[in-house]
Amino acid sequence: MKDNKKKFHIITFGCQMNVADSEMIAGALMKLGYEKTDSKSEADLVLINTCAVRTKPEAKVYSHLGDLIKLKDVNPSLIVGICGCVAQKERENIIKRFPYVDLVFGPKSIGELPRLLELADKAVAKKLKILSEMKSQGNEKANLKMRRKLKGARIYGDFENTGDNLPEKDVARESSFKAYVTIMRGCNNFCSYCVVPYTRGREQSRPFDVILSEVRQLVESGYKEITLLGQNVNSYNGGGGETFADLLEKIDAIEGRFYVRFMTSHPKDLSDRLIDVMASARHVAPHIHLPFQSGSTRILELMNRKYTREHYLGLIDKIKSRIPGVTLTTDVIAGFAQETEEDFNDTVSLLNFVRFDSAFLFFYSEREGTAALSIPGAVPLETRLERLERLVKIQMDITFDINRSMAGEIHEGIVEAPAPKSKKELSIRTFDNHVVIARAPAAGIDFIGSFVKVKITEGFNFVLKGDIIEY
Ligand code: SAH
Ligand code: SF4
Ligand code: F3S
Repeated sequence: MKDNKKKFHIITFGCQMNVADSEMIAGALMKLGYEKTDSKSEADLVLINTCAVRTKPEAKVYSHLGDLIKLKDVNPSLIVGICGCVAQKERENIIKRFPYVDLVFGPKSIGELPRLLELADKAVAKKLKILSEMKSQGNEKANLKMRRKLKGARIYGDFENTGDNLPEKDVARESSFKAYVTIMRGCNNFCSYCVVPYTRGREQSRPFDVILSEVRQLVESGYKEITLLGQNVNSYNGGGGETFADLLEKIDAIEGRFYVRFMTSHPKDLSDRLIDVMASARHVAPHIHLPFQSGSTRILELMNRKYTREHYLGLIDKIKSRIPGVTLTTDVIAGFAQETEEDFNDTVSLLNFVRFDSAFLFFYSEREGTAALSIPGAVPLETRLERLERLVKIQMDITFDINRSMAGEIHEGIVEAPAPKSKKELSIRTFDNHVVIARAPAAGIDFIGSFVKVKITEGFNFVLKGDIIEY
């Protein structure tokens, strides 16, 4: 029997926030009677959830869009939508450049989906009517040309939306054991290079009790890893003065076997109390992602980061001494405006001094509308790339060293997936956030989503190898 349900396909770029938003969009669509498909060509609705943080992810969106017009040739009733951060930032430009796009909405207007889709459906029905009239006049080839010329439905979300009506209860999670929980949206920090405050709007924390009961329910229904999300979780405000440390403490008190992770922390707001809560927690993973961006206080000031190199190093010192064995990761930008070789060396020395377990390294990418555009003294692109390359080499050596030194250690973790290269192996994420590849200890058992103990046998550049010793 043919399934008459409409099908959707979502392509997601960007950070975990976008992944979480896509899960919310999926949930909202399922509530409207849609069903998910992994195949674009089977879909009645294809959405691209976009990222605008650097030039590269934004460019990827445009190349995907080029492909979608071909799908429209085959299926003229296909609705193509752009959402997420590029949609928020570019709005009309998208429709101007890609007139066949039907639907454009930003991260805060996900709650409007039912209304937007109804409008898009109506517009597409009208278009189909015109097409069938054209068909009745013959000339298939001319029709194809006409079809391409026919504009998309041009339905826009409300870009000034406050995001108060998001369908947060409808999240359709991809995984049955890992869950993202958005605790706050938006950002107030306006780091001078960053587009996020413009695409996501002002910071809004979700109520304390709502988050707590959501996490409790997730744990009760078998989720084993909860990741709390926000652009700057350390400035969380639960509504009654509750801080992020309070939230983490309360979540940690929930009974059950589960891990709690969170990201991202901003060095200017990470409190001593948070470090204390983490130090004595049972469920909170000993891992902090703490972007430093630049090791030079002068550049940090130009970046509007509101902390100094010394403050950052002081924090790291506290974290390392109170949470022994903590995993530290970071984000770094190479070649920001006015960055001299001396400033860059400060970044190098910070990387070498802290010895992060891993680091996300970027070269500075100018973003329209951000304050950094008016800072004189741009660093030439080749220099940015060359500096980035140097950072990559340095960090690779550090990660390799740390990985090698872990041989012999025993860690607890959750089996996340089959190993990417071999079906007989499993990929395990340890409590302290390292990835270990290990042979499946028994055939015929589905290990995905279960807790195991793994003994690390060897460390490589990007992964660790190990043996599962308990399951
Ligand atoms: N809210 C998080 C980060 C969000 S964006 C935080 O404050 O840490 C993720 C990372 O992208 C940033 O940490 C930064 O390193 C990088 N990034 C943001 N804007 C960038 C730009 N214009 N050019 C290069 N890298 C950028
Ligand atoms: Fe961007 Fe800074 Fe906000 Fe992070 S804290 S999202 S880098 S403005
Ligand atoms: Fe990208 Fe938007 Fe996240 S710009 S990094 S998807 S908040």
